Amino acid sequence: EKGPYQHYMLKEIFEQPESIKRAMQGRIDEEYATAHLGGLNMTSRELLEVEQVVIIGAGTSYYAGMLGAYVIEQLARIPAVAELSSEIRYRNPVVRKNTLYFAVSQSGETADTLYALRELKRKGARVLGICNVVGSSIPRESDGGVYIHSGPEIAVASTKAFTSQVTAFYLFALLMARMRHLSYEEGLLFIRALREVPERLREVLEKAPEIKALARKYAWVKNFLFLGRGLNYPVALEGALKLKEVSYIHAEGYSAAEIKHGPIALINPETPSVFLVPHDELREKVLSNMKEVKSRGGKVVALCTEGDPDVREIADDVIEIPAVYRYMYPYLMVVPLQLFAYYMALELGRDVDQPRNLAKSVTVE
Ligand code: BG6
Repeated sequence: EKGPYQHYMLKEIFEQPESIKRAMQGRIDEEYATAHLGGLNMTSRELLEVEQVVIIGAGTSYYAGMLGAYVIEQLARIPAVAELSSEIRYRNPVVRKNTLYFAVSQSGETADTLYALRELKRKGARVLGICNVVGSSIPRESDGGVYIHSGPEIAVASTKAFTSQVTAFYLFALLMARMRHLSYEEGLLFIRALREVPERLREVLEKAPEIKALARKYAWVKNFLFLGRGLNYPVALEGALKLKEVSYIHAEGYSAAEIKHGPIALINPETPSVFLVPHDELREKVLSNMKEVKSRGGKVVALCTEGDPDVREIADDVIEIPAVYRYMYPYLMVVPLQLFAYYMALELGRDVDQPRNLAKSVTVE
């Protein structure tokens, strides 16, 4: 039931402070500054033996996996990568003994991911699921995993499942990091920052009218670039995907650093760029990427932290988000992008919850 919301997509975007909390519920251990994920079905000894993590998924779930891989590698110092389910299956992948696989899927039924999981399992891999729909095929066929407990996601374009999949990876990264080098104090810092996310997200959701006005201003645009770096690079990809899915506007997501290697040729006054500028160690670099775009006549919309004068000086439009611990920016960045896609679709009269040619769960390869 949509309640006061015009569409499921909007309702699900606004549910995120709660759905993220549910993904964390009962899984955080402040006493030892770690996470408990009983569904992994792995002993501490087995977890300690993991030397590499490979995450597979499709669409939004793939981007959640990409972000998950960044966090596992940075926080837990375990080499981690994300791969498209559809590609890994036919690549005849090499399965190594101490590699742990995750199959990420909201529906738990996506054929590309399910068949890739079967291929990996056939080769003897241990595959865990990160899924929402309880009892669906992927959790049934995996060796264990984490249910994200988002509640039903009705809109075809995934929103709240993304932030909860990310949360599952954050908890897993914390658990693995605390078994290795991460100190109790650092673990606690991470936990406190993660627990604060729902509150900070509420502040971000209050910007909805501002984002709606932005969509109105840019509704004439035919092509967008979404640019971010580090943890926010997968978020840029997800922002572009969301816009394509629901508004049918062409959008490309890139690492802000990569545009100079080709995409900058697209820059003109009709092709705006949406920059993600968190207050982290890559901020300066992103600022100079922004200047490159501006100096070539491109319009810039920036998502940045409150009161960042340097960004205001360069950007044409700014949406501000609260400053948070560096790992938590992806949550605060993705929600405005979800809202932007939603309001663009609304502005253009699209069928928001049932976009053309898309299905909620794609059970063919
Ligand atoms: C699709 C949906 O085709 O499948 C996307 O349109 C979704 O929104 C993708 O992200 C993956 O779905 P799932 O259920 O495996 O997460």
